[in-house]
Amino acid sequence: MDELLALRESFRSEVSAVNSLADLQNLKNRYSGKKGLLTSRLKSLSSVPADQKPKFGKDLNELKEYIEGEIKGRESALREDDYRQRLLAEKIDITLPGRPAFFGRTHPINQVLSEIKAIFVSMGFGLEEGPEIELDYYNFEALNIPKDHPARDMQDTFYVSDDVVLRTHTSPVQVRVMEKRRPPLRIIVPGKVYRCDSDVTHTPMFHQVEGLMVDTDISFADLKGLLELFIHNLFGSNTPVRFRPSYFPFTEPSAEVDIGCIFCSGSGCRICKTTGWLEILGSGMVNPRVFEMAGYGPDEYSGFAFGMGVERITMLKYGIDDLRLFFENDLRFLRQF
Ligand code: PHE
Repeated sequence: MDELLALRESFRSEVSAVNSLADLQNLKNRYSGKKGLLTSRLKSLSSVPADQKPKFGKDLNELKEYIEGEIKGRESALREDDYRQRLLAEKIDITLPGRPAFFGRTHPINQVLSEIKAIFVSMGFGLEEGPEIELDYYNFEALNIPKDHPARDMQDTFYVSDDVVLRTHTSPVQVRVMEKRRPPLRIIVPGKVYRCDSDVTHTPMFHQVEGLMVDTDISFADLKGLLELFIHNLFGSNTPVRFRPSYFPFTEPSAEVDIGCIFCSGSGCRICKTTGWLEILGSGMVNPRVFEMAGYGPDEYSGFAFGMGVERITMLKYGIDDLRLFFENDLRFLRQF
């Protein structure tokens, strides 16, 4: 009997010293495990004198229940503690200011491209696209630029092979569309073009918008009126516009279109090279030879075409003097638009 009391006492002091679930598990094994102290006492029951057996058995059972109850109680207390500790460690300071999420926005080139498209779409033009890796035939020959023509020097070309180039302009799409469709045609072709050129005003890839209008009675006056309307929409209705004779193998006659310098209002500055004018696009009446190569009868139709560089127009619109800024992806630059 004394032995059971001593066992109870030693358990009591041990269990109150236990501070972790692991220690508690050890204690549990030592007392109530298969080879634990309680089990060994149970085995010694046979050596207890017969008259004391019932009492010993009862006491032993009581001790067993007491120990198991204590262990359970201690275990839930320790688990509770553990949980509190974790909550404290994982505490979130909800008074901290949040981290701002940055929203993306449309690149300035795409903004201006959308404006240009919207203006022409409002005038009844449809959108067309063509391949960036283009046959020499469409990029040059079908546009009246034969293999040895000096006009090929106007555009520094990336050759993929003898017959395949990265398109140097969007004009090849004029021919591709005319091969497929009959007039009346009213299309614009936005897209990427490539030239072997790189400095403050040239990048190897840039964007153009081509325009083509073909019908039975299209005149140069239509070209002039339409482009003036376009420019007044894009740059403001007071912008002066001037047509200057020029040369493109695929248009005849050809004209370059200038706007009055928006930086000095025409009085002459560094950006307009003191001329008071800024060139913004090339244009002209479609050369009958181009119609012929596209399969149209030479006298059936007339039409005009034009082509503009989107980067150049964006630079003029916003007074940007280094083209490379568009491609560096510096957020300090891009966030201004
Ligand atoms: N394709 C010409 C260029 O890239 C521009 C142009 C297009 C000129 C259509 C006339 C007509 O320079």
